[in-house]
Amino acid sequence: MSETRTAIVTGAARGIGRGVAQRLAADGLQVAVLDLDEAACAETVESITSAGGKAIAVGANVADADSVESAVERVTSELGAPTVLINNAGIIRDNLLFKMTVDDWDAVMGVHLRGAFNMTKAVQKHMTEASFGRIVNLSSTSALGNRGQANYSAAKAGIQGFTKTLAIELGKFGVTANAIAPGFIQTDMTAATAERIGVAFDDFIKFSAEQIPVQRVGQPEDIAHTASFLVSEGAGFVSGQVIYVAGGPKD
Ligand SMILES: NC(=O)c1ccc[n+]([C@@H]2O[C@H](COP(=O)([O-])OP(=O)(O)OC[C@H]3O[C@@H](n4cnc5c(N)ncnc54)[C@H](O)[C@@H]3O)[C@@H](O)[C@H]2O)c1
Repeated sequence: MSETRTAIVTGAARGIGRGVAQRLAADGLQVAVLDLDEAACAETVESITSAGGKAIAVGANVADADSVESAVERVTSELGAPTVLINNAGIIRDNLLFKMTVDDWDAVMGVHLRGAFNMTKAVQKHMTEASFGRIVNLSSTSALGNRGQANYSAAKAGIQGFTKTLAIELGKFGVTANAIAPGFIQTDMTAATAERIGVAFDDFIKFSAEQIPVQRVGQPEDIAHTASFLVSEGAGFVSGQVIYVAGGPKD
């Protein structure tokens, strides 16, 4: 049996982050459930502890370096040095380019790119000291281009370059870095998209499922399963990869 690892999952109060946090806890990791509002993390934490796992709620804004530093310090003292990091926190500010504001651009870059940078920078010393680390960054099929998402697709493509560079720089310390690029996953984020384009969420799901080879939309568990593999002890030779988890191939 290897030692108990501590994981930080950002944006874990709901959606994909919650699913990943629950799965890693079921796999035997201790999990810091990090999100903007500490109180909003309670439901995820409770679901983990009531199933016999160990988790704490941590309020932090990933876009803010000071907030991230103190969050990582808290995790280290309350759970132990984090050696698994899931950069999942995300927002959308969709609009066609001609209507997109600089604030829409900056907000999305701030959470996805600066957020992943801040978190990884704060956690990497614990990984290199332990000669073990697993970093999983959430990209998206939108990295390949998506109408109304100039900001988001640029951020998610940026995440892929960031991931590959981490893999190159940190590999010699026993640290792997990979990206998961989900397709349509049923969460509040896709519900917000349905609302923005004026379609009932059920219809949006049905229409989207028809376009997906496996004929269904994804669930947070689909991403959690992939994350579970990537952070596992046995996945140490898989690094710098982007895994599309989209119910079919993507270019
Ligand atoms: N749902 C999808 O179809 C889909 C597809 C591809 C990629 N993704 C990506 O997966 C990740 C999770 O998406 P989701 O669908 O679960 O979204 P969601 O909106 O349901 O959850 C995102 C979580 O991130 C948190 N968050 C936002 N800004 C934060 C910040 N600055 N600091 C800390 N936490 C913050 C939110 O509070 C929320 O709990 C995102 O990175 C998203 O871009 C989602």
